[in-house]
Amino acid sequence: MPTHEITAAAAGSWTLGDRTVRRMGFGTMRITAAPDADRAIRVLRRAVELGVDHLDTAAFYVSPGGTLNVGSGPARYAPELIRAALAPYSDDLFIATKVGFAYDPATGLREETSPAGLRAQVEENLRRLGRDHLDLVNLRIVKRPGRDSVAESFAALAALRDAGLIRHLGLSNVRLDHLDEAQAIAPVVCVQNSYALDNRGDQDALLRECGARGIAYVPFFALAGARREAGAAAEHPAAVHAVARAHGATPHQVRLAWTLHQGPHVLAIPGTGDPEHVAQNVAAGALRLTAGELAALG
Ligand SMILES: NC(=O)c1ccc[n+]([C@@H]2O[C@H](COP(=O)([O-])OP(=O)(O)OC[C@H]3O[C@@H](n4cnc5c(N)ncnc54)[C@H](OP(=O)(O)O)[C@@H]3O)[C@@H](O)[C@H]2O)c1
Repeated sequence: MPTHEITAAAAGSWTLGDRTVRRMGFGTMRITAAPDADRAIRVLRRAVELGVDHLDTAAFYVSPGGTLNVGSGPARYAPELIRAALAPYSDDLFIATKVGFAYDPATGLREETSPAGLRAQVEENLRRLGRDHLDLVNLRIVKRPGRDSVAESFAALAALRDAGLIRHLGLSNVRLDHLDEAQAIAPVVCVQNSYALDNRGDQDALLRECGARGIAYVPFFALAGARREAGAAAEHPAAVHAVARAHGATPHQVRLAWTLHQGPHVLAIPGTGDPEHVAQNVAAGALRLTAGELAALG
């Protein structure tokens, strides 16, 4: 499908708390893997030029040595690249970030952050982004048997929200019982979980419940699916190829369109380090799938 002149507005909008964002956003995890900072900056500016106003980031998106252990040279933090590309920030830009674990490059393990340690992670995000508040902070949990409550950590973030450091709160990598616990403490505007056309896991019920509660559901790895950090596969289910051919679209665009068709509260945050892919992903917001196509996709 042609990508020219299609902006993120084509995907429609959703309201997160008191802010309205376009449903086609941009995930910044992969910009740290760009061969140089200039390219990462170009990718971010391209997304915003195309009308993207919802960015997802984290201070632990750093390369080399961070969650994406690739590249070489000096550390590049995604929030610092965002600042270099986009500060001074437009009032329209909504930047979501996440806290809750620290990545240990030596062991490759994610160590859960204590409730008391969350403030330092929030402050690190503020510092690296160069902002005095964060639009949205997701509590990203590391599920561990026997240590499964989000209450204490979510209450710590709610206190930082009350102190004015954070405007809105969300949850990531959670189940419905975590959402119930958190909502008893403070408003939750989004749930960010791993979900893709061919990697739905047990997420369908939670996705629907978020819609019923007026909460955004924000899938990560919508393109990468089960390959996760390894990135998008070259192979896709046959139905994806068939729908792509019918629309003159790429399989990746069909995957993103399918994501957006899962409900008006579903927001896309595809990640890429390639400016051309940014434009293709934004254009996927204009792709309208028929009921028959959605059934075939599954
Ligand atoms: N809450 C959490 O725990 C969590 C975990 C992981 C990620 N996230 C967030 O979710 C976002 C999305 O995840 P992600 O970036 O890992 O995965 P993704 O969006 O599912 O897929 C990214 C992969 O797709 C490729 N790609 C993107 N657009 C493409 C296109 N138009 N055509 C062909 N290939 C394309 C990328 O390669 P190229 O770079 O070559 O385009 C990369 O390999 C992240 O950026 C991050 O903000 C959150």
